[in-house]
Amino acid sequence: MWKVAIAISLALTSVATMAAAGNAGDVSRGRELAERRCASCHAIGEAGNSPDPLAPPFRNLYRQYPVDALRPALLKGLEVGHRNMPRFVLSAQEVTDIIAFLHDLDPCGKPSSDDEAMARCFAPAE
Ligand code: HEC
Repeated sequence: MWKVAIAISLALTSVATMAAAGNAGDVSRGRELAERRCASCHAIGEAGNSPDPLAPPFRNLYRQYPVDALRPALLKGLEVGHRNMPRFVLSAQEVTDIIAFLHDLDPCGKPSSDDEAMARCFAPAE
């Protein structure tokens, strides 16, 4: 079932669609994985700099592209175009969970009455 959700979200990039697709994985498992496998280089929280200054903070990724589009790259261990990033192997379920976590970092992907947070959705990445 989640495969269908991801295929649909790949085809559509509207904020509302991304919010709906964000349920496909388990956010807390994705966060744990990110802590274990990614946080040594990437900032994975809502603030702070990446330990490796070349590694983009995860909270900026969703501003650059729909994070569902990372799925094929993550399944292949991001071997393409990431000079300083080690190859890693993640299962399909782990990729789904990490992507759910990336969605969760996106305040624009959740209904919010916080006008300031919503305004930042449309601000350029830091
Ligand atoms: C040893 C350090 C290191 C680890 C561990 C690491 N990364 Fe990275 N990552 C980098 C660096 C450095 C870059 C920027 C590479 C470049 O631009 O050449 C990067 C880039 C990325 C990008 C951006 C790709 C793009 O084109 O915008 C994504 C997404 C990403 N990493 C995801 C992950 C995920 C998910 C994990 C954990 C499973 C992870 N990284 C673990 C160092 C790391």
